[in-house]
Amino acid sequence: MKTRITELFGIRHPIIQGGMHFVGFAELAAAVSNAGGLGIITGLTQRTPEALAAEIRRCRDMTDKPFGVNLTFLPIVSAPDYPGYIRSIVEGGVRIVETAGNNPQKWLPALHEAGIKVIHKCTSLRHSLKAEAIGCDAVSVDGFECGGHPGEDDVPNFILLPRVAEQLKLPFVASGGMADGRSLVAALALGAEGINMGTRFIATREAPVHDNVKRAIVAASELDTRLIMRSLRNTERVLRNAAVDKLLEKERSLGANLKFEDIIHEVAGVYPRIMKEGDLDAGAWSCGMVAGLIHDVPSVKELIERIMAEADLIIRTRLAGMLGAPGP
Ligand SMILES: Cc1cc2nc3c(=O)[nH]c(=O)nc-3n(C[C@H](O)[C@H](O)[C@H](O)COP(=O)(O)O)c2cc1C
Repeated sequence: MKTRITELFGIRHPIIQGGMHFVGFAELAAAVSNAGGLGIITGLTQRTPEALAAEIRRCRDMTDKPFGVNLTFLPIVSAPDYPGYIRSIVEGGVRIVETAGNNPQKWLPALHEAGIKVIHKCTSLRHSLKAEAIGCDAVSVDGFECGGHPGEDDVPNFILLPRVAEQLKLPFVASGGMADGRSLVAALALGAEGINMGTRFIATREAPVHDNVKRAIVAASELDTRLIMRSLRNTERVLRNAAVDKLLEKERSLGANLKFEDIIHEVAGVYPRIMKEGDLDAGAWSCGMVAGLIHDVPSVKELIERIMAEADLIIRTRLAGMLGAPGP
């Protein structure tokens, strides 16, 4: 399939694996890129710029296809060494960066001078237009259903994607709720040029996470996610578990007085225990409503080929068949 996104990134299929904390290691990124999509290493999961440089080398050993690095600009007090991470990306010869979180404007010159294409993840039309105005090359539009941080506007992709298509000139991918060929065709119909998937890629054989995490996603339905940290304006969609119930109880009882310190135990530094050790109740972990559409743990290649074959069938057979004879 050829779209502005496949052309921009030099990939075969318009399918991106979004950055995911303690999931987006070289194994997953390489598997996605080898299957013709765009795999992305999660920069900040690597504790130092040197560790990121090593992870990029590991990925390059596993694939000769394009892959990217995610840089998440967090609203935290002690900022990570972003210039150092960017140096590792540039020196590692990476050609694509997925930015997320705060406005990436400050970092764009360094990335663009190195010939790097930047796709910025946005949860609203106004942020998408801002990304275009500051010179990003593409946008990843995350609807309300997405795993991770959906923003504070709560606009689902059936509205958000066509709204973005009405005004944005840059190519964009649909993110949040994407799982299969139906998602891809729907996203294209709504104006996107491809899809970005998070949760779906966790439930794959190559995702370097504990089997408990994959099993939990397969077992979950679309009703099993919860929104946390709303009152802190740092809303995150996570899979419901004992720690999340405890956190929500604190949110209810403290109301507007809730501070980050009150829930730090449930959210800070919990990912290694969950993703590596499979201790699912160790804290809150991001998961999309799309869990309801995930019923198996295929290889990345099987998943991507299945999506493309299903999309082809829907477009050529189901949709074309509905049209009947040409005419008004
Ligand atoms: C476990 C997990 C961790 C994530 N970590 C990050 C992250 O560190 N940075 C980021 O930009 N997005 C992160 N995301 C968001 C994904 O990149 C992607 O935008 C989102 O999962 C899309 O929604 P979906 O899960 O419905 O496919 C994470 C998502 C999940 C499920």
